[in-house]
Amino acid sequence: MTDATLKFGEKELNLPMLSPTAGPDVIDIQKLYAQGGVFTYDPGFTSTASCQSKITFIDGNKGELLYRGYPIDQLAEKSHFLEVCYLLLYGELPTSEQLSEFVPRVTRHTMLHEQMAYFYRGFRRDAPPMAVVCGVMGALSSFYHDSTDITDPEQREIATVRMIAKIPTITAWAYKYSIGQPFVYPKNELDYTSNFLHMCFSVPAEKYAVDPILSRAMDRIFTLHADHEQNASTSTVRLAGSSGANPFACIAAGVACLWGPAHGGANEAALNMLREIGTVDRIPEYIARAKDKSDPFRLMGFGHRVYKNFDPRAKVMKESADEVLGLMGIENNPTLQVAKELEKIALEDPYFIEKKLYPNVDFYSGIILDAMGFPSSMFTPIFALARTVGWIAQWKEMISEPTQKIGRPRQLYTGPTYRDYVDVENR
Ligand code: SDX
Repeated sequence: MTDATLKFGEKELNLPMLSPTAGPDVIDIQKLYAQGGVFTYDPGFTSTASCQSKITFIDGNKGELLYRGYPIDQLAEKSHFLEVCYLLLYGELPTSEQLSEFVPRVTRHTMLHEQMAYFYRGFRRDAPPMAVVCGVMGALSSFYHDSTDITDPEQREIATVRMIAKIPTITAWAYKYSIGQPFVYPKNELDYTSNFLHMCFSVPAEKYAVDPILSRAMDRIFTLHADHEQNASTSTVRLAGSSGANPFACIAAGVACLWGPAHGGANEAALNMLREIGTVDRIPEYIARAKDKSDPFRLMGFGHRVYKNFDPRAKVMKESADEVLGLMGIENNPTLQVAKELEKIALEDPYFIEKKLYPNVDFYSGIILDAMGFPSSMFTPIFALARTVGWIAQWKEMISEPTQKIGRPRQLYTGPTYRDYVDVENR
């Protein structure tokens, strides 16, 4: 592919063009500053590729999401979350032998060090579960000195398995702590997702059987949230990892970033918005607010930096919402009715059509999680649970990159230029 030519001032630079296996071509500007003495400026990274990756690809115009080339709707229908974890981590769907080795390796690491239970007790009971998950994930590094040397592939592998195995326990215990119920230990005879529901909803006082319908729906939600290219939290994990920080600290940084309402916090905000709208007749008022530039209100669960068509995850999530609520006999759930009518009205509105705003992964997920019995404060922690494997896969890819170096963006400086100090009496 011929180079790109960049002309500015007296300079003319030839910059290499790189060809992807899918998506837009890339102009390699790594030598731009050295050769041209200028920076590029792209604060939201709307036109900037931060890395090379083989893990996940999104075609925003087609509304397509591929994990290692496999479309998300097929994986959601035919696969299961631990198999998707294997795919994201190792690049291929596992054979039955590989899967029968991987699953017990994860299962055997689901327990937390008993001291962790005391760590939880340092939080107030009303602490947001996201704050607890963020803190506990970071604290894991203080327990596993044998898996924080990122230069050792063995230690990277054990840290990977530990985080995938323990994040359901960490998340479930954050929920239990928030409702004042005792921690429930993992049961190794349960599958990964059933174990999570068991740790969330069982109590010592009575028997608890995981509903297979809910477990299947939960597992599908995990798959839909597992990875998503270089989104804000994944980019945070990569940047943290580029300094050589231990993997637990890097994932804790990802949890912190995901918390924001513009990112993973949108699922909680979307359900709260749907509840605030309350009835279908109030939808036009909120559509008007979303379009009003003087009003900071946005339709939560709508819009996306990359998707300019339907988020394929939202489609699967909507089908799952119909299925789960139908099987639970609450298909007439008023919040689901408002969500469907809101989606219909918005998608017929010129403002949303022109700006290509569609429901995203967060628009329907809260309705299912709410129907399962989770409070909205647990929606983003569940998103973080599922995304942990994506963050780890991206972190491992970054660490093993031969040209890996610390991420250190430059800036467009617009502050004061050099000036001498002025004593206070002369100011
Ligand atoms: C996730 O990156 C990822 O992949 C994230 C994620 C993942 O899996 O990791 O997919 C998960 O974070 C999904 C997004 C969840 N967030 C929300 O649902 C919050 C509501 N959505 C918006 O805040 C917004 O759409 C973003 C943050 C998702 C995307 O923002 P962009 O790409 O920076 O787009 P923008 O803010 O520049 O909006 C473009 C235009 C603007 O109007 P103009 O200034 O051009 O006139 O569209 C408008 C915006 O005002 N707009 C909306 C809107 N989203 C964008 N208007 C009303 N309601 C909305 N939801």
